[in-house]
Amino acid sequence: VPLTEMVIHSRIRDYSVRFESTPRFLEELAAAPATIFIVDETVRRLHGAGCLRALAGADVIDLAVSEERKCLAAVEELYEQVMERSPKKNLVIVSIGGGITQDITGFVASTLYRGVRWVFVPTTLLAQTDSCIGAKTSLNFRRFKNLIGTFYPPAAVHIHPPFLESQEQLDFFSGLGELAKLLIMGGEDDTRELVRMLPLLAARDHTTLLRAISRALAIKQSYIEEDEFDTGRRNMLNYGHCFGHALETATGFAVPHGQAVLLGMLLANAVAGARGMLSAQREREYAESVLLPLVRIDAAGLAVADEVVVEAMGRDKKRTGAALPLVMIDDNHEMIKVDDLQADEVAAALARLRRTLAAGA
Ligand SMILES: NC(=O)c1ccc[n+]([C@@H]2O[C@H](COP(=O)([O-])OP(=O)(O)OC[C@H]3O[C@@H](n4cnc5c(N)ncnc54)[C@H](O)[C@@H]3O)[C@@H](O)[C@H]2O)c1
Ligand SMILES: [Zn+2]
Repeated sequence: VPLTEMVIHSRIRDYSVRFESTPRFLEELAAAPATIFIVDETVRRLHGAGCLRALAGADVIDLAVSEERKCLAAVEELYEQVMERSPKKNLVIVSIGGGITQDITGFVASTLYRGVRWVFVPTTLLAQTDSCIGAKTSLNFRRFKNLIGTFYPPAAVHIHPPFLESQEQLDFFSGLGELAKLLIMGGEDDTRELVRMLPLLAARDHTTLLRAISRALAIKQSYIEEDEFDTGRRNMLNYGHCFGHALETATGFAVPHGQAVLLGMLLANAVAGARGMLSAQREREYAESVLLPLVRIDAAGLAVADEVVVEAMGRDKKRTGAALPLVMIDDNHEMIKVDDLQADEVAAALARLRRTLAAGA
């Protein structure tokens, strides 16, 4: 029996994630009173006559989406557009789009009247498999990415894989990076299942996507329910992200997030290998059977100086060059966080990754 619903427990409010095989759920949402849809304009253009046909007579605000627009100015414009409709506090916002749409509209929903009912329909693999649960909303401020935000879970999330058919290949493979991270964190059985599913996932087979996405969300759920406000165990979800965020920053966001996470897992595994926490054979298995087949960045895409990466990793810290935090996986599929990563280990891991990517090209 395929999974049709999960309930995420949150100290703010429990919420449901529904796996939808048809777009009929949108007819119900469109028929409900006081509902305003905020839709990524690209998704509306691509799916207006398909998945989104139920929105034909609905009240829709089109949202222009870009990382530069994930800011307070875009939020103010939405307050403006929503208030023009003289809404009441019982207003419902349904947002449809990827992680950027989620972050902007989640922030709007959490702050308008101190919180209105919000339903999220993720349309990218990254949003379906990862960001749609966890209750974080984030905005960029000046040069600070995700500086401003709130914890605000949606009332419901609806996952419908056919939206993913139109995703750009690089974005889709970026989402596969986050999906792979979560399934690897699930342990040996999930990792083996991931390897088996990989060809059908890459072909965007709906049934396989639903199975993998629901499993990835269940794994993420086990981390966030224990530590909703991100003070301890949830840190482990940063596997691939310690190096990943630094690569994104160091390349001026030329490497998409999920791709940076894949490279970040290869780098974390290289450090774990060098420290004797991960055997050479395991490191090679992760690289060859899961991570490298999903990487769409070549050696030229990693043309950044080691010092720039080290500096980007230490940006949150007072002293750069000091020891850095890193989440790794060990031979027993346990996640381990250390706080003593050294600059020379970063350089060695980068050199190794560059050799691997050059050999594959
Ligand atoms: N709140 C969280 O917990 C959280 C977690 C991870 C990432 N994020 C944020 O998510 C953002 C990245 O989100 P993302 O990768 O989901 O994508 P996105 O929202 O940035 O969208 C990427 C591009 O794909 C387009 N698009 C969206 N759906 C599409 C579809 N079905 N077909 C074709 N094109 C489509 C968009 O218009 C955009 O051009 C980042 O800003 C990141 O910081 C938030
Ligand atoms: Zn991520």
